[in-house]
Amino acid sequence: MSELNLVILGPPGAGKGTQAERLVEDFDLPYYATGHILRAAVKERSELGQKAQEYMERGDLVPDELIVEVIRQRVDGPEAADGFVLDGFPRKVTQADVLAEVLDGLGRRLSAAMLIDTPDEEALRRLSGRRVCADDDHLYHVEFDPPREEGKCDQDGSALIQRDDDKPETVKRRLAVYHEETTPLIDYYGERGLLRRFDGSRHPKEVSDHVRATLATLRLEDEL
Ligand code: AP5
Repeated sequence: MSELNLVILGPPGAGKGTQAERLVEDFDLPYYATGHILRAAVKERSELGQKAQEYMERGDLVPDELIVEVIRQRVDGPEAADGFVLDGFPRKVTQADVLAEVLDGLGRRLSAAMLIDTPDEEALRRLSGRRVCADDDHLYHVEFDPPREEGKCDQDGSALIQRDDDKPETVKRRLAVYHEETTPLIDYYGERGLLRRFDGSRHPKEVSDHVRATLATLRLEDEL
C-alpha cells in the first residue's frame, strides 16, 4: 500500500489534535505533534523544555533551531518509513522548506497538507473550555466533549487540567502568530497542489468523515 506522509495545519483550537487522534487510529500511522513533544520536554525540565518554555507561555513560536532537528529525526526514523502524521509542524515557511528537503533526501514526498480551519471566535470558545489529561494530552471539552466522570480522563483515569497557554490573552497571541507566521503555508502548499481543506467548525465526526474520504481517494489516485 502507498505511504501517507501528512501534515495537519490550522489555527489553535481548530481541532487538529482531535482529528489526528482519529486519523492515527484509522490509518495506523505514527503521530508527531510538536506541541505535545515540547510540553513533555517542559514537564521533564530537559534542556529543550527549559529553552522552549518562555516562548510557549507567551504564545510565540519557539525558534526553528529548537524544533527542526526533533522533526528531522522523527521523519527520518524507521517508525515513519511507511508514513506519518505531523501536527503543528511546519508552522512557517522556513520549517516547510526543511521538511521538503528532508523528504527529498529520502526520495519521498508529502502526500497532503490538510488545513482544518475555523473562525477565531470559535477557537477562543473551544480553547477556554478545553481540558487535557495531565498524563498524555488526551482531549476533552467541558461542553462539547465532556468526560464520563468530571475532572477525570476516560482513557487513563488521570486528572484533567487546563493548559497554561489556554488563558484568553495567550490564545489571542497564538491566533495572531498563526495569522502572521503560519497562514503563508496555505499558499505554499496550494501552489504545490498539496492543500486539502476541511471545515473545522462542523461536528468532529463530520470533519473526520471528510478527512477519511479524502485520504482514501488520495491513496487510490496514488495507486492508479
Ligand atoms: P500546539 O500544541 O501545536 O497548539 P496549537 O497549534 O495552538 O493547537 P491546539 O493544540 O491549541 O489546538 P488544536 O487545533 O489541536 O485543537 P484541539 O483538537 O485540541 O502548540 C503549542 C505551542 O508550542 C505553540 O504556541 C508554540 O509555542 C509551540 N510550537 C508547537 N509547534 C511549533 C513549531 N513547529 N514551531 C515553533 N513553535 C511550536 O481542539 C480544541 C478544543 O475544541 C478541544 O477541547 C476539543 O475537544 C474541541 N473540539 C475539537 N474539534 C471540535 C469540533 N469540531 N467541534 C466542537 N469542539 C471541538
